[in-house]
Amino acid sequence: LQTLPPVQLAQRYFQIFPEERDPIWQDPCEDKRHKDIWSKEKTCDRFPKLLIIGPQKTGTTALYLFLGMHPDLTSNYPSKETFEEIQFFNGRNYHKGIDWYMEYFPLPSNTSSDFYFEKSANYFDSEVAPRRAAALLPKAKIITILINPADRAYSWYQHQRAHDDPIAQKYTFHDVITAGHDAPLKLQVLQSRCLVPGLYATHLQRWLSHYHPSQILVLDGQMLRTEPASIMDKIQKFLTVTNTLNYHKILAFDPKKGFWCQLLDGGKTKCLGKSKGRRYPDMDADSRNFLREQYREPNIELSKLLYKMGQPLPSWLREELLHIR
Ligand code: A3P
Repeated sequence: LQTLPPVQLAQRYFQIFPEERDPIWQDPCEDKRHKDIWSKEKTCDRFPKLLIIGPQKTGTTALYLFLGMHPDLTSNYPSKETFEEIQFFNGRNYHKGIDWYMEYFPLPSNTSSDFYFEKSANYFDSEVAPRRAAALLPKAKIITILINPADRAYSWYQHQRAHDDPIAQKYTFHDVITAGHDAPLKLQVLQSRCLVPGLYATHLQRWLSHYHPSQILVLDGQMLRTEPASIMDKIQKFLTVTNTLNYHKILAFDPKKGFWCQLLDGGKTKCLGKSKGRRYPDMDADSRNFLREQYREPNIELSKLLYKMGQPLPSWLREELLHIR
């Protein structure tokens, strides 16, 4: 039997098994061998029990704010790099390891507020996030918010315009969504960021191959926008929190903002910033019709999937299905 010094041995190993170069972090407390070699000061209670996975532009920030108002729930510390979102499971941060991830959550205090959650809105359509999340957080609950994928695409386009993306400035929304394979690469990239996350059934299916349907709650983003307190009731039941908070009393519709906001003492409201709930013209009819056609099959797939999961169809999906003859 021959062996090599550790570094060479590792190099040799990864030559033979290149697919294992990508690590997969498991909960150290799920395996006694891992737990035994882990520092005594560390605890597996410092991981989130709830992930809000997105997709982007569906109201994830509003939900994050509303959940943060609950006394039993504690959100992550904001990330300096990615504007509040940790984005651990989807990208390169994953390679920074679980200690890096844990630092985003407070040390557990052994009270009911140790229920940690984080939202990273691009987990939803990430190829790798479901597998990675399920390896580390197999018992976690997952929340996804779905709005009409056509509106989501348009909201993303407006978001990019507001961020001075030259491609979104140069091309109309209709140009972006109808661009062909011969279009400039950057235009195709923007098109893909507008359209691909909206293939809801495909992405949800990926999460379902790693999590039991009972762990996943699919929310109607339109209802979150118009009746957030009822949605918060639903979420509290799903999470089985110790204290039930009456959101009907602590949220108020702000006519100036045009959205529901946090009600502060003295009757003032605290709303999300300018970048959430932007004002822009309605989508043109041609784009609406084009996207209705594009998302026809994916929306049918979504309705079948939700039916199998035993979850109600969002109102916008019922409306879209009415247009399908
Ligand atoms: P628009 O700015 O296009 O209207 P996310 O936080 O996932 O990026 O989603 C942003 C979207 O959340 C906004 O898109 C807005 O429509 C929606 N939204 C839902 N409830 C909201 C609220 N209470 N305040 C602000 N935006 C809200």
